[in-house]
Amino acid sequence: MVNTEHASLYLHPDRNLGMELVRATEAAAIRAVPFIGRGDKNAADGAAVDAMRKFLGTVDFDGVVVIGEGEKDDAPMLYNGEHVGSGRGPSCDIAVDPIDGTSLTANGRQNALSMIAVADRGSMYDPSAVFYMDKIVTGWEGHGVVDLRQPIGENIRALAKAKGKDVADMTIAILDRPRHAGLIDEVRAAGAGTRLMLDGDVAGGINAALSETRIDMCVGIGGTPEGIITACALKALGGFIQARLHPKDDDEAQKAIDAGHDLERILGVDDLVTSDNTYFVATGVTDGQLVGGVRKMGPKIRTESIVLRGKSGTIRRVVAEHLAEKWL
Ligand code: FBP
Repeated sequence: MVNTEHASLYLHPDRNLGMELVRATEAAAIRAVPFIGRGDKNAADGAAVDAMRKFLGTVDFDGVVVIGEGEKDDAPMLYNGEHVGSGRGPSCDIAVDPIDGTSLTANGRQNALSMIAVADRGSMYDPSAVFYMDKIVTGWEGHGVVDLRQPIGENIRALAKAKGKDVADMTIAILDRPRHAGLIDEVRAAGAGTRLMLDGDVAGGINAALSETRIDMCVGIGGTPEGIITACALKALGGFIQARLHPKDDDEAQKAIDAGHDLERILGVDDLVTSDNTYFVATGVTDGQLVGGVRKMGPKIRTESIVLRGKSGTIRRVVAEHLAEKWL
């Protein structure tokens, strides 16, 4: 039997905005290279921001930055509320992270990525400046099985059963932070292994949702913007995410309550981004499990990217070779 939805997608293909956006993450990653291992994370971020913004200007869409470099007063470029793109084409929300892993970049460590997520205008969650979220991310097997309100050990056992794996073969990615000491102990007590990440929980979440990786689940407290960006990627992967705001102090909690947030609310993928028309693109700055980093090869510069489209569920891996002389 013909699946009419997919058949109509095939008969009336529209353009994949992600294939254009990837030029902006490639540019940001390339421009960050001179700063890899040089100890200055702000300089690395600045170079990436500048390049990403320039390339976004050439893409036909009308984007409003909803997750950016901060408020306009502090961030001259890619600030929240800034319009990006040519102004022609679809109206979108855009979340940018020119480098997720600025410290990784400055220290020459693995897993730094440049990333962008885009969705229909007005569809991305507004966290009212609550910086952290408690999150749990898995592949499609986690739906109806995993719940943020359950103890982590129960979640690991339930997911292992759904995946047909032994708990001893489960690997759980967690940001390596003092705040996660108890969580890490609980994961190990349950009999699973940990993959402690120095930074970069978007890649951790995507790796948990991709079937070809060794990571089964990504848990813990990380950035709220990163949670929303992860949700845009998960729309293409069919993955599972639950998140709950985690204010860092009473002041932040009160501001969130005043803005109408319920701090106990469990946010699913459709709360974090209501539209299914999402794009996620990421280019490796340094080598990582998701994609390789920028490599200079004689007259060429090689980049590796991943392009995910929510509407079609397409996963593309894009390897590009750029003429080095154009980037001098
Ligand atoms: P930046 O590179 O933008 O600083 O973010 C890195 C990151 O590790 C995110 O991936 C993660 O969500 C967040 O920082 C965690 O915050 P913190 O470092 O304060 O624990």
